[in-house]
Amino acid sequence: MIINLDEVDSTNEYLKRMVEDGYDSDEMLTVTAQFQTAGKGRRGRQWFSDPGTALMFSVLVKPKLAMDDFSMITLIMAMAVRQSLKDIDIDPRIKWPNDIVLGEKKICGILTEALLESKRLIVGVGINTNQESIPQELKDSATSILLETDDCVDHDSLLDSILFNFEKLLDRLSESGDMTDLKSEYEEALVSLDKEVTVLDPTGEFNGTCKGIDNKGQLIVSHEGQDTYVYAGEVSVRGIYGYV
Ligand code: BTN
Repeated sequence: MIINLDEVDSTNEYLKRMVEDGYDSDEMLTVTAQFQTAGKGRRGRQWFSDPGTALMFSVLVKPKLAMDDFSMITLIMAMAVRQSLKDIDIDPRIKWPNDIVLGEKKICGILTEALLESKRLIVGVGINTNQESIPQELKDSATSILLETDDCVDHDSLLDSILFNFEKLLDRLSESGDMTDLKSEYEEALVSLDKEVTVLDPTGEFNGTCKGIDNKGQLIVSHEGQDTYVYAGEVSVRGIYGYV
């Protein structure tokens, strides 16, 4: 089911309230909005876009996975977005774990929030599609599909395609229980594969070479001859060349 809203505080918050108010179907539920008055990014940041210029939606799912494994769903959504963009001749890459980049700039962010009590997950996606300009302070790190390709994106068909791909990938993930079958497809899209990355974690910062992901979707970074497994919830990874 898809609920289309003109305006909402945040599509993630809307779904959270639905669950708090007793929504308990196992069916996947999607909410889109033309405009968010309090759109949320990761790390407490805001996510803002002028009305109708970005594709913004959130999906509520009850994955057939242990809650410890929910972080893989973010990777699956990134793969679905990439696949759907490829189908319209755009070839973006994934910046593990939450972003999609075109060239070296971000065009999509994903905010995944777990609802512990109901064992559900909200996957919120914001795609910079048809913005004609990007705010000055974000220009070095973000762009839109329109700015990069000169083409406007049809939000309805892109959303349908992403949801279709997401459900297919989710089935594959649920069947195997981990990323074993999806790993190579994911790594094909991984912008940092075999490149130097900086891992920022609470215990300090180090540089290493990105070797791909393991079966649980953790990023493998080789550092001083040793592989480190980077868990999405713990660190952020920045390439040492610009944004990526
Ligand atoms: C990020 O890159 O920091 C994640 C951005 C996620 C933005 C989307 S827009 C739809 C959904 N609703 C929100 O409030 N946030 C996500």
